[in-house]
Parts: sequence; structure tokens; C-alpha cells
Amino acid sequence: MTARILGIESSCDETAAAVVADGTTILSSVVASQVEIHRKYGGVVPELASREHLRQIVPVVREALSQAGVALKDVDAIGVTQGPGLVGALLVGLTYGKVLALALEKPLIAVNHLEGHVHAVLLEARAAGRAPKLPAMCLIVSGGHTLLYRVAAKNSATGNGALQLSYSRVGGTRDDAAGEAYDKVAKMLALGYPGGPVLDKLAMHGNPQAVRFSEPKMDGNPYDFSFSGIKTAVLYYLRKRPELQQEIDARQQALAHGERNAEALRALSSEVTLDLVASFQHAVVEGLIRRTLAAAEQFGAASVLVSGGVAANRELRARFDEEASKRGLEVFFPSRALSTDNAAMIAAAAYPKLVAGERADASLNAMPNFPLG
Ligand code: KG4
Ligand code: ZN
Repeated sequence: MTARILGIESSCDETAAAVVADGTTILSSVVASQVEIHRKYGGVVPELASREHLRQIVPVVREALSQAGVALKDVDAIGVTQGPGLVGALLVGLTYGKVLALALEKPLIAVNHLEGHVHAVLLEARAAGRAPKLPAMCLIVSGGHTLLYRVAAKNSATGNGALQLSYSRVGGTRDDAAGEAYDKVAKMLALGYPGGPVLDKLAMHGNPQAVRFSEPKMDGNPYDFSFSGIKTAVLYYLRKRPELQQEIDARQQALAHGERNAEALRALSSEVTLDLVASFQHAVVEGLIRRTLAAAEQFGAASVLVSGGVAANRELRARFDEEASKRGLEVFFPSRALSTDNAAMIAAAAYPKLVAGERADASLNAMPNFPLG
């Protein structure tokens, strides 16, 4: 029998709902992004996020059910994000999911948002008939997270959505997340918010070897990341080149007039800026790949999964494929739609829990620092 799970996600700045059958087939996936609201602040403002989730949650869930052609009474379970995330934002989706589950007498399943990101990759790979070999090394790389997990199978029901997984944390960022570094560098250069997509496009037009950024020097875990050093290095680089201020001001003006187009912003950027962007991206991408592949080797991973907003980066995808194939490893990325926060990944992650009989009750509460594994 098919299990149709309604997934609800509201941990950061996306209100999302989706219906997924058996953890594999997406019947609908609706995402209401708040990016326009947070743009003028250059980052997510928690109070505004909660307020917007409140406005969006009911229509978004309704739209997901309608697109799936599934009535609320025919949903088999409700999966909600419990954390990590912004507490006020999490509470909106979690409370709504809890009330729906209680009122409809449906099973309620609590999902860790990070586990959702792992399932975003697994879900699509499975749907395409190519389930990744386990154990896998999973890099979750977004505006809020840069984490490495070893993902292993707990049971042998391979190839289906009910596979029970275990997670062990291998490393993570000690300061900023990679996406956060993209956003901060884009802010310094007046290239808009979020920074990743524009820097990604501009980087293709610069020389990635022009500026040498040194590798962060860290004691302890070799699989940890750090991005505050490179952010500061970009800041110092700009301070030493006051002649760049004029073009920064020009781009600031363009942004103030609503310009978002990467080509238009590129036309306002000198070669020096394009080289800086290309070099920044190169350093970030190579650092992510080097550590992930070293961890994959150390922990005996049979494949690599990459998920989160930064997984949309073109250089990251191309270079990962190149480097992993040299080592005989296959790398799996989600589509662009499932790279960023969505609820299909939450419904997919809820499915093996439903099968295993895991249930949350009315005491379920948000966990802003919910660890995985
Ligand atoms: O997963 P996500 O939508 O939200 C969370 O942070 O949870 O990720 C958004 C982040 C932003 O920091 C954005 O700049 C970055 O992902 N991003 C990218 C690209 N697209 C989005 N970073 C690099 N290259 C991209 N193409
Ligand atoms: Zn996320």
C-alpha cells in the first residue's frame, strides 16, 4: 500500500509543503521563498521570517495538497521539521503540523532538517533508478550549514525509500557556513543577496588563480571547515584597493534600483573584481572538495552526496565530478529545486520513520540546535 506523507518545512526563510509517496515519488512540492523580504537586510531577519511563515503556512499546505490531488483526510502521515533552525520559524510549521495530525488522527513524524537534506539527494537518485551505494559521505552545504556526515544503512532493504539510515558527524564548519561566506563577500562587493548565484555566474569570467587565498590552518579534526579567514582576506584585499570603491558604489546604486541581473552587474565590474570573485570561489570549492573526498576515503565511503543551497554551484558540481571519478566514486547532487530548502525532503525523510513506527506526540517541541546522529 502506498503511504502518502505530507511534509512541512519552516526552519529558515522558506515556507514549504509537499506530498511524497513512499519516500520516493514527489506528488507536489510547494515552496514560498521569503528572499524578497530579507534582501534589503542582506540576511534572514528571524522576526520577519516567523511572521511570514504565519502568513504562508495555510495557503502553502493547501496548494501542496491541491497540486498532489490528495485530500487532507487521505494523507497517511504528517512529517514536520523539528530543527535545527530558527525557533520562531520552526514553531510555525511544527505547530501547524501537530494540530493537523491531532485533528485528523494521523501519525505525526518529527524530522531533523539535516536528515531532510540527505534525503533530498537520495529521493531523486532513487526516483531515477540509481540508488547511491552506502556508506556515503554527505556534504551538507548551505547558508546555514557546512557539515560532513557518514551515512550508512541500518537494515538491508536496499533500493527503497524505507531504508533505515544511521548518521555520524565527521566534520563541520567552525565559524561561517560556506553559503554565508558567499553572501558576505557578495555584500562587500555590492553584488546582491543571496550572493551565491551571482558570484557563481561572475566567477566564470575571472581568473581563479589571480588571488591566492591560503588554506585555513586548524588543529584537530582535519575534516572541519572554516570560512571566516577567506571572508576577512577579501575585506583586506578591498581595503588595499580603494580604486574599486567607485564600481562598488555604482553596483550599489544599480541594486538600489532593483537590478538583479548577473550580466548587468558584471558590466559594472572590472577585471580585478571578476578575478577576485573567481579566486574566492575557486578557494571555497577546492576546500570543500578536498575535505569531503579525504573524509570519503578515510571513512570507507562508496559514494558522495552533496546537498544544500551551495550544491547548486556549477564549479562545485563540475570539479566534484572530476575529482571523485578519478577516485572511482560517484557523486550525487539534487536538482536545483531540491538543493535549497523544501518539504519534499522532509516527507521523504519521514517515510522510513513511519515504516519503523516512530511517532511524535502532542509534546513535540522545536529544537533550534537539533544535532543529527
Ligand atoms: O539551502 P539554502 O536555500 O538555505 C539555507 O541556508 O538553509 O541555501 C542558501 C545559500 C545562500 O547562502 C546562497 O548564497 C547559497 O546557498 N547559494 C549558492 C548558489 N546558490 C545558492 N552558493 C554558491 N553557488 C550557487 N550557485
Ligand atoms: Zn537547509
